[in-house]
Amino acid sequence: MEMNQPIGHTPLDDRPDGLVGKPLDRVDGPLKVTGRAPYAYESRALKDPAYGAIVTATIAAGTISAIDADAARRAPGTILVMTHENVPEQGEKKEQVWPQLQGREITFYGQPVAFVVAETFEQARAAAMLVKVRYDRAKPKGLLRDSLAEAYEPKPMVTSPGVKPDSSLGDFDGAFAQAPVKIDVEYTTPSQIHAQMEPHATIAEWQTGPDGDAVVLYSANQMPNRGQPPLGSVLKLPPERVRIVTPYIGGGFGSKLQAVPEATLAALASKMVKRPVKVALTRQQEFHVATHRTDTIQRVRLGADQDGKLTAISHESWSDTAIGDGFYESSANVTRSLYAAPNRITRHRLVNLNMPIASSMRAPGEAVGQLAFECAMDELAERLNLDPIELRIRNEPTEDPEKRIPYSTRRLVDCLKAGAERFGWDRRAKPGTTRDGQWLVGMGVSAASRQNPLKPSSASVRLGSDGVLVVRMAMTDLGTGTYTILTQIGGEMIGLPPEKVRVELGDTNFPKASGSGGSFGAGSAGSALYVACDNLRDTLATKAGFNSADATFANGTVSAGNRSVALKDLAGSEGIEAMGEIKPGELEKKFAQYSYGAHFAEVGVDADTGEVRLRRMLGCFTGGRILNAKTARSQAIGGMIFGVGAALMEDAVIDPRHSYFVNHDLAEYHVVAHADVPSVDAFFLPELDDKANPLKSKGLGELGICGAGASVANAIYNATGIRIRDYPMTLDKVLKGLEQGDTQRRT
Ligand code: MOS
Repeated sequence: MEMNQPIGHTPLDDRPDGLVGKPLDRVDGPLKVTGRAPYAYESRALKDPAYGAIVTATIAAGTISAIDADAARRAPGTILVMTHENVPEQGEKKEQVWPQLQGREITFYGQPVAFVVAETFEQARAAAMLVKVRYDRAKPKGLLRDSLAEAYEPKPMVTSPGVKPDSSLGDFDGAFAQAPVKIDVEYTTPSQIHAQMEPHATIAEWQTGPDGDAVVLYSANQMPNRGQPPLGSVLKLPPERVRIVTPYIGGGFGSKLQAVPEATLAALASKMVKRPVKVALTRQQEFHVATHRTDTIQRVRLGADQDGKLTAISHESWSDTAIGDGFYESSANVTRSLYAAPNRITRHRLVNLNMPIASSMRAPGEAVGQLAFECAMDELAERLNLDPIELRIRNEPTEDPEKRIPYSTRRLVDCLKAGAERFGWDRRAKPGTTRDGQWLVGMGVSAASRQNPLKPSSASVRLGSDGVLVVRMAMTDLGTGTYTILTQIGGEMIGLPPEKVRVELGDTNFPKASGSGGSFGAGSAGSALYVACDNLRDTLATKAGFNSADATFANGTVSAGNRSVALKDLAGSEGIEAMGEIKPGELEKKFAQYSYGAHFAEVGVDADTGEVRLRRMLGCFTGGRILNAKTARSQAIGGMIFGVGAALMEDAVIDPRHSYFVNHDLAEYHVVAHADVPSVDAFFLPELDDKANPLKSKGLGELGICGAGASVANAIYNATGIRIRDYPMTLDKVLKGLEQGDTQRRT
């Protein structure tokens, strides 16, 4: 099925009380909590693996002058020390997957320089510490702020070639110059680390056979089908000869969208030692060997008339990435679609630094773009003496302001109003006027918006003689609940209870699927399964002698008129199979498709220390049909909590002398913990998007983080009257503002 026509009535519309939408518990929950769900490093499918350890560069720029690996090679248990001197030949870099150990040049701290393989984990680690690398150091370029003069317009990203880094409409300069009310502000956001629980890990087996070589990788990977061509390129194998198996993933947040060097190194080492090789990154290596979200510097200019109608919008963003790469943080993309204004500019500029590889992290673009833009809107509302919700309502567009096409659905204003009512927004007071003991108390609001893409996906379904429906696709569940929603879709379509549906994911031997990322997973994979089930329904109905349009599927039977047939009888001893496929089509060009929401935060700021504590937070969202009330809410509040961390604490601190992240572990890199988020809730407004996909659902995985931190920042302003424009809003920055405020009050 190609999405060229809006979706009409479907079987999912028939039973609003059906399985789809129910808050079903995770079907993989029991496996996970009992430790029986094998993650990449725990798989036992490949026998007798050797253990790998990565040795990384301790400088950010320069060359290797010598590697002394003699002691490591002599150490007990060592099987191989692989360096640039003996690594097998590799192919070209593709996407963000680089060939490894390619010569003497070092361009970032953490760049792998050797890979040690030994009989045990301990031996591999001990031998890795014996590898002595000497360097000729060069001065690294490691700060975005210092290199802005070199910033250039990046190429569109390979993953979305149609999206240009710059856009403009009308005459921004003229309109901004004439605007009676103006905001011109710069916000900065720091580097951030995904900090997912499961580290990157791979067990690789290089296989040689009569038809040539192949490799099997048990590897934590959000998008295994996307991973095949780049790994194939580097390993000099056809993509279909790279099999990636990833049934369970312990989080990713984007860091596992593509293969990280450990997969390549394990594959190459397995080729050399002729047995499986397993390796996981250490938590410290996660900061440098894997990807991160880069720093951004963002300038937002808003021009409005006295009534708060925007006449001019400009959002410019600078970010950095590794030498030889072109990934940029697309902070201003969301600004193209969010509010009406006739004159507008968005612009992205990039700098290459001696830093590890920057890449996607949950809601790449929006997550930090809205940290800046949604605060600038708050600043404008303040200047106009207008409620920030009212400002947004006055600038609600009737169509996508840059694409000039209608929205498929858009309930941003409804989210703002419904959220405001439930949160008690009418109790918000003037900035700096509410006090609760030592706490200055304030409320903030922000809009949330995230694009809703559909990616090609396919699925197979098979109804067996046992009456069990087996679903297969190379989809992944990175912890979001994919197994569960696919169980619900399969169960409802075929009329089976959840325990009669078995979903098998995470293997490139299964039908190709989108994988998990970009909030496209549930809609894309779920739609492929929907189509497969629709095809299976046709076959089953016909076999039962029914007209498929009249057939009803429920309780393991298909019925029409007053006749019912048990599905397992129809399946016979052979079982019945069907395939399904979904592809994006014309509708994504004809309609702007986004999910929306509104965040409300209340904070307390300690009047003496500047410490900020979140007191409560509420999100109101729309995401088309909600496939599972519990997993959807979990995605929403998880994203919001992530946003609280971005606002208040997450900060990968760069040492400008050595160009590395100083605080490279989870003791020093602070993510929110339970005590930081006392009360967070989220709810959804009903919505069906018949332009999005046959499920009429929209993406949710990243919506919750979009704008969440801005609502916290705006609440800090409302509590204190202090505007901080440099994230995270740690107490030192707040305290400085409080002290300056005191000084001003005294004079
Ligand atoms: Mo997401 S950053 O596309 O996993």
